[in-house]
Amino acid sequence: MKPGIERDIHSLANPAQVRVIHVNLDLTVVFERQTIQGTATLTIERLAPDATQLMLDSRALQIEETAVSPDGVSYRESRFSLGPPDRILGAALIIDLAPDTRFVRIRYSTDPAATALQWLAPAQTAGKRHPFLYTQSQAIHARSWIPLQDSPGVRVTFEARVHVPDGLRAVMGADCSAMNCVMRRPIPPYLIALAVGDLAFQPAGPRTGVWAEPPVVARAAAEFSGMEKMLDAAERLYGPYRWGRYDVLVMPPSFPFGGMENPCLTFATPTVITGDKSLVSLIAHELAHSWSGNLVTNATWSDFWLNEGYTVYIERRILEELYGSRRAEMEATLGYQDLQDAFKTLPPAEQILHIDLADRDPDDGCTSVPYEKGALFLRHIEQTFGRQRLDVWLRNYFDHFAFQSITTARSLDYLHEHLFTAHPELAAKIPVEEWVFEPGLPASAIPPVFESASAAGQWTTHEWLHFLRGLPEQLDSTRMRELDAAYHLTGSGNDEILDQWLLMAIRNRYEPAYPRLEEFLIEVGRSKFVKPLYEAMDRKQAVAIYEKARPGYHPITQATIDSLIAAKTAD
Ligand code: BES
Ligand code: ZN
Repeated sequence: MKPGIERDIHSLANPAQVRVIHVNLDLTVVFERQTIQGTATLTIERLAPDATQLMLDSRALQIEETAVSPDGVSYRESRFSLGPPDRILGAALIIDLAPDTRFVRIRYSTDPAATALQWLAPAQTAGKRHPFLYTQSQAIHARSWIPLQDSPGVRVTFEARVHVPDGLRAVMGADCSAMNCVMRRPIPPYLIALAVGDLAFQPAGPRTGVWAEPPVVARAAAEFSGMEKMLDAAERLYGPYRWGRYDVLVMPPSFPFGGMENPCLTFATPTVITGDKSLVSLIAHELAHSWSGNLVTNATWSDFWLNEGYTVYIERRILEELYGSRRAEMEATLGYQDLQDAFKTLPPAEQILHIDLADRDPDDGCTSVPYEKGALFLRHIEQTFGRQRLDVWLRNYFDHFAFQSITTARSLDYLHEHLFTAHPELAAKIPVEEWVFEPGLPASAIPPVFESASAAGQWTTHEWLHFLRGLPEQLDSTRMRELDAAYHLTGSGNDEILDQWLLMAIRNRYEPAYPRLEEFLIEVGRSKFVKPLYEAMDRKQAVAIYEKARPGYHPITQATIDSLIAAKTAD
């Protein structure tokens, strides 16, 4: 029995009637015109025998022609129409089906402003000689580069042939040979990913390795040399890794996220390459998604905490396996601080794990709540039931729901049936409804605590962050100067530490750091850094820097900072 399709308010498709189960792409990447053009051939399955139309998601796609076929060999043209465009969802692409249709082929091209695509000029790359293109499909951007049913409840297999200019290489989150990529396991569309550039590969272990531009690949491979061990540790905890290879692609610095868990090939920011492996928790996080997220997937974006909360919990378990509990507790403590900060500003409705996203862009739901509150919920279960019982339950959960997309309700049912029912006296201690459906934290939540023991000379990145964040918000210029002189913070080569310091520099008008601030914001586009820095600046300073930095940012980051600066004008 196939699982049902959950109603997804962020999709205009009709998977409950006609469901896309496989996507075959033949695409050509044209850098001069910033477009991807070609065909997407969709294999469909009819759930409602009388359905006459296939409804897909699309955003800013130029549709040239649609055709249908009973056998995948002979096609005939079919009528299509585009529904009215919605600001958040894009437009439905509606294609007429014949009674015997099993394949639907769409010839199309993408718009230069497609929200999933960032087109980088050679100057924005490490090598400076070749352009670079990458996709970022989560949450609902896949529809801006592929016409499909863009809901995490709809899983597809895919194959792709991607034509790129000589001297460049295309990689995808899939099994790739010279020309072709294949994903044999059904995945949600937000995990379909492509990158094109001057890319080199260096292995880390038998199943793991690093892709990056040639000037970066050696440094990146050294930083991530522990990947194979991480993979082994994750498997010991939660069962077999089911995706074949696990590689990391190091992105140009404008990549708007820390990482993206594309199957077989995590996309990662270069800002975690510090030389001391202190930020490899990002890899642990994206690797953990191979279980929580990619194997068992949130059915809708309101269930996003199932992806991220479970993943943060597992990320720290992997860290503990490899680096000990002190390191894991440190990160848990910083995460808890982030969560407390978020609670200070987020309205109650956004402090809920199962979040209501009606009329909202699902990207808005990406706060520390699904991540840190979600992880704390699992931690509370661990502390109450014992690690052993939770681990057994989690393993079974991943086996039971493997390659399925599930709702919060289904996951909680499974929790009750397979863990809580057997131990009612323990279950009584966990107010599940409050954890999942109410703002803030239950009174019984247990905050992680960490005290740094070592001296500043041996601090890890996280101890530095802990120290800097613990300083008073207001520091006079003498104190700022002293800190800088003692610890060379303005000159830090560690982007996490630098980011925290620059934030303090803005708040305390510490001008010696301003040139570095500008340089950093022009180079790096990771929204986690960029957004708080612009927020902290006054309008004049923000505008002056943003004018120079904007062209280098991802379209989504541009939109975020555009409105952030517009709001500054207003007040
Ligand atoms: N899947 C997310 C990134 C994401 C979330 C992209 C929502 C688009 C919409 C990824 O796994 C993630 O959580 N990245 C974090 C990494 C961190 C928590 C270690 C990031 O980018 O900061
Ligand atoms: Zn994540």
